[in-house]
Amino acid sequence: GALPLAAAKAQDFPSRPVTMVVPFAAGGPTDTVARLIAESMSRSLGQQVVVENVGGAGGTRGAGQVAKATPDGYTILLHHIGQATAATLYRKLPYNVLTDFEEVGLVTDVPMTVIGKSTLEPKDAAELIAYVKENKDAVIYGNAGVGSASHLCGMLFMSALGTQMTTVPYQGTGPAMNDLVGGQIDLLCDQTTNTTGQIKAGKVKAYGVTTKEKVKSLPDIPTLDASGMPGFEVAVWHGLYAPKGTPKAEIDKLNAALVTALQDPKVIARFADLGTEPVALERATPQVHQEFLAAEVAKWKPVIEQAGVFAD
Ligand code: MLT
Repeated sequence: GALPLAAAKAQDFPSRPVTMVVPFAAGGPTDTVARLIAESMSRSLGQQVVVENVGGAGGTRGAGQVAKATPDGYTILLHHIGQATAATLYRKLPYNVLTDFEEVGLVTDVPMTVIGKSTLEPKDAAELIAYVKENKDAVIYGNAGVGSASHLCGMLFMSALGTQMTTVPYQGTGPAMNDLVGGQIDLLCDQTTNTTGQIKAGKVKAYGVTTKEKVKSLPDIPTLDASGMPGFEVAVWHGLYAPKGTPKAEIDKLNAALVTALQDPKVIARFADLGTEPVALERATPQVHQEFLAAEVAKWKPVIEQAGVFAD
């Protein structure tokens, strides 16, 4: 018997490549997570999931592009904690974080590391704290723009120290890392998915991790919490989104491919090397993702308002 048109379309989905927008530059931490997930999803969907890097404005340019895309399942967004912080950081965001997307599922939680150029004087976190307090805006901190994870971490770091550094924004921490290794900037706080290789190769100095617990793959690096910054804690979570109005059948197929990717031994092994792991499967649902996003917007709002940093 003939299927109604919408059902027939859903059965065919996807019949052409799916674009996964990463709202930061290629070669950075979000890109790394996205490419691993996209590769696995391509296999289970039977169509290429092609990563497109749309950097700029701390992730809000790429997110805005997906918010306005045709809601047919062929354009999706892999974004992180910045999806939640941008709601407060930007006074005039051209989309609504909570109502312009269909959540597909959470992906992973990634610790961050505070790292310095290899020639930076301080040897450990205690020395770094004293150094930043003394040198203030002579210290150059790189980030990926207002709304990025590196922005959030830097904001918390500066507010804990009660001092400002000079901030240089990039399209992503991939390019910021190049400048840190090259010595053009002094400090970066970035996800282990981008920093682990450079730390292990001795190309940068690692001062501390931003989680309450140490990171298994970086056992020699203390927590900031235990290194003179009690209570310092931030972890970057990633989630997958489609534009609002994407049919449930397409969301379900995308979610099933995501859940398969999160159980893919190749993904799990690579994540572990990079200091992270897939979320528990019960968190990889549209429902949990939606509730978590709303909770994260509410959690960071007062913190951002207290720090008093806003963008237009
Ligand atoms: C990136 O992929 O470049 C990062 O996630 C940027 C950031 O949020 O710090």
